[in-house]
Amino acid sequence: MSITAIIGGTGLTALDGLAIHREEVVDTRWGAVSAPVLVGEFHGHEVVFLARHASDHSLPPHKINYRANIQALKTLGVDRIIAVNAVGGITDSMASGVICIPDQIIDYTSNREHTFFSDDFEVTNHIDFTLPYDEALRQSLIQGANDAGLDVMQEGVYGCVNGPRLETAAEIRRMECDGCDLTGMTGMPEAALARELGLPYASVCLVVNRAAGKAVGEITMDAIRQVLADGMQRVRQLIAASLVSPR
Ligand code: HPA
Repeated sequence: MSITAIIGGTGLTALDGLAIHREEVVDTRWGAVSAPVLVGEFHGHEVVFLARHASDHSLPPHKINYRANIQALKTLGVDRIIAVNAVGGITDSMASGVICIPDQIIDYTSNREHTFFSDDFEVTNHIDFTLPYDEALRQSLIQGANDAGLDVMQEGVYGCVNGPRLETAAEIRRMECDGCDLTGMTGMPEAALARELGLPYASVCLVVNRAAGKAVGEITMDAIRQVLADGMQRVRQLIAASLVSPR
């Protein structure tokens, strides 16, 4: 049976409905993983769950050891990774509460450990990243949304920034000119590291706020929290449906 990993982000530090069989504290040569990995069953499927920001949400985006996390999932023998990301919506269609299965990435991050090959690089380690997300996994998430009766945006460009601060309005205007639909802080280098280890990877993005300058007033954590509660419930339904549908 194949094993699906789910990396939970903000608002998804635990996976309701996961029957936990055991917790694995995985040792990696890259250092500490965000949290013990929960191994169990979710809607009849073998699933491992990793809380990207730690179980108590104590790790901000720039402190996450992305290499350790992806290596741990590889070590546990997972076949694919579904990442869940809370994001800001840039383009008009990306309103608060919208779920998007992005198809492209622009990486604005810097100073993150972004490759497994920093020391022992060989020319074969230039991974192809034309399509950063695995298309079959993306389609199975879109199908899951359809099966669950949930609306999703089937494409979107995810711009990944360092954070932890949110952007200025001008930065968001620039990102929009670049072609970004969404802004978030955790999509990279996670997606590239998964590709380096040959793990199919796709993301379910929940828009939790309109990006800077796209709505009147400040972006408040209270407003974000309100969107997260209902939104992550729908994200769980979507993932459950995509695991259940045979394909
Ligand atoms: N910008 C960057 N990251 C985010 C945002 C945002 O507006 N909302 C949630 N994560």
